[in-house]
Amino acid sequence: MTFGFPHRHYRRCDSTNSRARELAAAGAPEGTVVTAAEQTAGRGRRGRGWIAPPGKALLYSGLLRPLDERHLLLPLAVPLAVCEAAEALGAAECAVKWPNDVWIGGRKVAGVLIEARPRDGWAVVGVGLNLAIEPDEFPPELRETATSIGVGDPGAALAALNERLGHWVEAAQEETLGEFRRRDALRGQAIRWERGEGTADGVDERGNLLVRRSDGEVQALGAGEVHLTLT
Ligand code: BTN
Repeated sequence: MTFGFPHRHYRRCDSTNSRARELAAAGAPEGTVVTAAEQTAGRGRRGRGWIAPPGKALLYSGLLRPLDERHLLLPLAVPLAVCEAAEALGAAECAVKWPNDVWIGGRKVAGVLIEARPRDGWAVVGVGLNLAIEPDEFPPELRETATSIGVGDPGAALAALNERLGHWVEAAQEETLGEFRRRDALRGQAIRWERGEGTADGVDERGNLLVRRSDGEVQALGAGEVHLTLT
């Protein structure tokens, strides 16, 4: 499918995901994209906010519809599109931190917030990709863990993401799993979650994270259920 037609751009809005959800509910077509130079109430996963200095990040929401069982691995497919778009712009090699953060050199360069309405058959795919944010422009608490790709053209970033997302949302599950496994930043890492700890051991065919515990047992963690920390 094709993303980017129609395209609505705001100099400033609350959240591109909120604007895209409103358009989806009003019947906007598949591939509709909303971008903004600045968000006043950008949203991240787990109820967190998302902040970026005006004009220095790609703040993007794309509408996927109809949404059906072919999109089971959408949370893994979207960050793969972001990796490829970033690399096409000249970024260093990107990796994915399950379920859908994009990392360069162990630091977060992009986040993904997918808001799905399965009953209504649509999902809004939200991406925040840091383009040219200087280290001292990040809030102090993110300075050690965030980065940007170092290339600042939002128009080129938009075109690259539209193109790569069109491919990855329709990719076969084996292709998505294969590429995710290749870019998996967590494999072999010691991790902890609310109810245990272990070593990340890839993803299963449903996109769950596999974790090997110290007793050898392998457990599958669902993205909605756990909050991970690297240990
Ligand atoms: C995360 O890592 O927590 C996800 C961050 C997603 C941020 C993007 S910015 C564009 C879109 N609009 C939002 O309000 N959120 C997403």
